[in-house]
Amino acid sequence: MLAKILSAVNEGLESRLVEVEIDVSPGFPVFEIVGLPDKAISESKERVRSAIVNSGFRFLRGNRKRLIINLAPADIKKEGSVYDLPIAFGILKASEELTQEFDQVKDSLFVGELSLNGELRHTKGILPMVIFAKQKGIKNIYLPEDNAPEASLVDGVNIYPLKSLKNLIFHLLNQEKIEPFKSSENFKKSLCKIKYENDFAYIKGQEFIKRALEIAAAGGHNVLMIGSPGAGKTLLARALPSILPLMNKEEVLEVTKIYSVAGLLKPNEYLKIKRPFRSPHQTTSDVAIVGGGQVPHPGEVSLAHRGVLFLDELAHFKRTVLEALRQPLEDGEISVARARGFVSYPAKFILIASMNPCPCGYFGDSQKECQCSAGEILRYRRKISGPFLDRIDLHLDVPRVKIDKLMGEEVAESSKEIRKRVERARQLQAKRFAGVKKKSKKAVKTMTNSEMTNVQIKRFCEIDKAGEDLLKRAIEKFTLSARAYHRILKVSRTIADLVGSDKIKTEHLAEAIQYRTQLDENIF
Ligand SMILES: Nc1ncnc2c1ncn2[C@@H]1O[C@H](COP(=O)(O)OP(=O)(O)OP(=O)(O)O)[C@@H](O)[C@H]1O
Ligand SMILES: [Mg+2]
Repeated sequence: MLAKILSAVNEGLESRLVEVEIDVSPGFPVFEIVGLPDKAISESKERVRSAIVNSGFRFLRGNRKRLIINLAPADIKKEGSVYDLPIAFGILKASEELTQEFDQVKDSLFVGELSLNGELRHTKGILPMVIFAKQKGIKNIYLPEDNAPEASLVDGVNIYPLKSLKNLIFHLLNQEKIEPFKSSENFKKSLCKIKYENDFAYIKGQEFIKRALEIAAAGGHNVLMIGSPGAGKTLLARALPSILPLMNKEEVLEVTKIYSVAGLLKPNEYLKIKRPFRSPHQTTSDVAIVGGGQVPHPGEVSLAHRGVLFLDELAHFKRTVLEALRQPLEDGEISVARARGFVSYPAKFILIASMNPCPCGYFGDSQKECQCSAGEILRYRRKISGPFLDRIDLHLDVPRVKIDKLMGEEVAESSKEIRKRVERARQLQAKRFAGVKKKSKKAVKTMTNSEMTNVQIKRFCEIDKAGEDLLKRAIEKFTLSARAYHRILKVSRTIADLVGSDKIKTEHLAEAIQYRTQLDENIF
């Protein structure tokens, strides 16, 4: 007999329906899975057989021993252990161990990994499937209990949390009804519970750098901080998340989807409500940073989506890593090759990088003398290429804080206060980009000034004659590129937004130019 059960497959962050067809017939014992399965799926034969038997059911009855499973469409590679549940349930139906008709099965999607004793385990990549199932008009989704909170972010579908295979069968037989999962946690409430490790209130002095970080947070701009050892670069970068606005539901969904696919959602941390802060080590490989690999997976740039990618000690990263970052920094997404074409992952993040000005660290320091030769300094700086630097909007020289300031009792403005201004500026941006069309259906929405295209810059960053003259002079003096010109305009748009100004005034432009040229003059 033939049974058909619906499931899904992820291609990057998008999903497609998979029809799991199970055919059980009399004959020579065979157990085959066809339809481009990977190793984990092939191994599901053993898991499914044990799970069925240990749940108290019979695995194939009588002389019906020929078992063929087809995962359709056959041209997409299927990965992971998602199909354990539909396969096990389908075998019970096709082998007539279950003879009842279950009406609700037609409109339902089944996903989840089984353990040998028939229990369902937390399975990665569930959220994109649930979002997709809803779009396709599927009414019920049966999935592992541990995945239910993550799935319940999508409303309008019934999420049935299952403990085990037995649990599902008893529910369908109306013997032990399971109630659809209702998210108990209020989304807004959970946002308020976010805790930050660092607060700007306890960082002494550094007002100029704090102001630049406020602009970066407000408009999503990239930052490079250069300074001597112990100046506070790492401390300042780590405090950046505390002034970033809270994520809205759309952003939470985008970020959670990426972590779901990467298998990085822990069972007790089902929603990524806190903006990501990724700080990969200098030894991290190109693939781990930008994504890809034999089984394509999102890299650090996508795990930092809507949050921060912090590259501490920038000069110690491999040059190939920095070069690989150029494309996602420009496009806000990254395409990785897979068996059939490409998949793209979103990668809109704030890059914050820090480094010393030279190998010994004290070049230009107010108190300590630099020990490096001119050649050493040059070699060190050459590690960061021109095109990479060009993609950074705010170039900051971080001075050391004076000792009396450091020892003083003064408490600076808190991150919460700064965040309020950042949020106001982001609201203006949300209004600005509300009507803007997306690049493609699958692209994520434009949310910050840094993501503006050249056409949008023309539309939203108008400057007057005095501003034009100022910018022209700066470009000539510092031989800035066309990209730098556009990036200065975006930063000045953010500076204007921070004071609620519709127009970009000359003073806003002057401040933006200053951040762009501070280091070029002294260091690069
Ligand atoms: N402005 C400041 N206010 C309070 N503490 C500070 C400040 N600047 C630095 N510190 C203290 O100095 C320590 C070292 O700072 P941090 O690690 O950020 O330096 P760094 O610039 O990253 O140095 P390196 O170049 O060696 O990595 C911090 O942990 C903090 O305790
Ligand atoms: Mg540091």
